[in-house]
Amino acid sequence: MGGSLAPKRHKRTLTGASTAVTHEQVVPQVQTRRLLLRGFRAEDLDAHAAMDADPEVMRYMGGVVDREESWRRMATHVGHWVLNGYGTWAVERKADGVLVGRIGLWKPEGWPGVEVGWKLVRHAWGNGYATEAARASIEWGWEMLDVPALISLIHPQNDASMRVAERLGMHRASHHTINGQRAIVFELARP
Ligand SMILES: CC(C)(COP(=O)(O)OP(=O)(O)OC[C@H]1O[C@@H](n2cnc3c(N)ncnc32)[C@H](O)[C@@H]1OP(=O)(O)O)[C@@H](O)C(=O)NCCC(=O)NCCS
Repeated sequence: MGGSLAPKRHKRTLTGASTAVTHEQVVPQVQTRRLLLRGFRAEDLDAHAAMDADPEVMRYMGGVVDREESWRRMATHVGHWVLNGYGTWAVERKADGVLVGRIGLWKPEGWPGVEVGWKLVRHAWGNGYATEAARASIEWGWEMLDVPALISLIHPQNDASMRVAERLGMHRASHHTINGQRAIVFELARP
């Protein structure tokens, strides 16, 4: 047999396997006072799947999904960085390295704008982590993206999420229907 396809580099990788692409090459890291925003890793699946299996967390996000679907969603968020050049981060609490959520920028095909989105595991609610990470995502967005505004699409009954949007200075701008579900579009103009 001729040359091997085995990669020459053996850094920590996106999949945990030996590939040539590292997390850091795909997703930039951002630090806040209490949180590290970083790319998802294969070993995040247990925590990510647990978050996606929690009916309280998924109440306004289309309902719970199983481990396989949770993996696909995690992969979609990593792939979004490659396709769009920006995306969402895995949010790790610096104090103990625990994955507390997924927060960042999101614009799949058909979306009405660049969304800043937030989702925390239940045990991390009530600490201000969503606001802290979303604020860092927004700062990153203003610096890196040429957009006049960021949006958040929020279920009309998702009070906790609307409170995050309001703390961030967003205002209700319009409505949008996603998968047959009406959402309020909150908007934040570039300062
Ligand atoms: C939406 C969601 C991220 C909000 O979480 P949260 O913990 O309420 O939001 P934050 O992390 O910003 O924390 C703010 C809360 O922590 C409290 N808090 C405690 N310590 C704090 C601190 N140091 N700094 C700021 N807030 C603090 C605040 O008083 C606030 O509580 P309140 O809203 O009852 O007044 C969470 O409910 C969630 O993950 N929901 C499921 C997923 C979802 O629906 N996502 C949104 C889709 S649009």
